[in-house]
Amino acid sequence: MRFEGSSEYVATPDLMLAVNAAITLQRPLLVKGEPGTGKTMLAETVAAALGLPLLQWHIKSTTKAQQGLYEYDAVSRLRDSQLGGEHGSRVHDIANYIVRGVLWQAFTAETPTVILIDEIDKADIEFPNDLLRELDRMEFYVYETRELVRARHRPIVFITSNNEKELPDAFLRRCFFHYIKFPDKETMQSIVDVHFPGLKQTLLREALEVFFELREIPGLKKKPSTSELLDWLKLLMAEDIPPEALRSKDQKAAIPPLHGALLKNEQDVHLFERLAFMARQNR
Ligand SMILES: Nc1ncnc2c1ncn2[C@@H]1O[C@H](COP(=O)(O)OP(=O)(O)OP(=O)(O)O)[C@@H](O)[C@H]1O
Ligand SMILES: [Mg+2]
Repeated sequence: MRFEGSSEYVATPDLMLAVNAAITLQRPLLVKGEPGTGKTMLAETVAAALGLPLLQWHIKSTTKAQQGLYEYDAVSRLRDSQLGGEHGSRVHDIANYIVRGVLWQAFTAETPTVILIDEIDKADIEFPNDLLRELDRMEFYVYETRELVRARHRPIVFITSNNEKELPDAFLRRCFFHYIKFPDKETMQSIVDVHFPGLKQTLLREALEVFFELREIPGLKKKPSTSELLDWLKLLMAEDIPPEALRSKDQKAAIPPLHGALLKNEQDVHLFERLAFMARQNR
């Protein structure tokens, strides 16, 4: 099984290499990178390209590792025991109240699957440690039913992180790591082409120029990323903004139209306005 890229997602050669290395090693691929650089979409793309089902597990601050294996639904069981009748007969078999999590579903699936554990850094620091054994050995024990669940096929595991928390060393040891570098101009152009094949090249060139200049501004609190550029381009097309309006000669470095798609807080907008003001004075 090899990942060779896809027509909807621009994967650089080093990213494809990392995906295939993780598949060969049979280890989870830990993907980091700025927000909006395609971490989540990578797992979706690889699953689609390899023709495998994708099981997504989006992590929140309250998510526990156990939920990926199974949960015991005590509330339903109690309710059934009070209802009696048909429901009452279910009560005696505890297996009726075991809710399977993503890992269990993947382990027992007919075919190999792709698992996405998205934004692992959102959970508390015990979360990755609690999954070590399951991801390593690909098995776990269900105490309630005294059953060992073992993977029929080893799933391909993607784990994404935005670096909000450090991951433990023992966890890192078991992963293959890849940092998605922010796309260079050429790669970004290919990404835009994938999303807006009909985009006028003059508009694209101007927009990319403004976008990369904006990212260079020192002291910006939040640099706009790929998904923000795509939003901005979509708006520019919808509003039929001419390329000249992005940065015309006589009002050089004025704040670009629809900048709300790119700059996400007032400090950054002020910073940009100040720079534009200074640029005008120096002329
Ligand atoms: N390499 C790429 N090829 C095509 N589209 C891309 C690429 N990278 C990013 N995008 C676009 O950017 C959007 C955001 O990507 P995605 O949600 O995967 O980012 P992310 O890294 O998971 O961000 P976050 O850290 O905020 O969750 C995607 O929906 C896609 O439209
Ligand atoms: Mg994401």
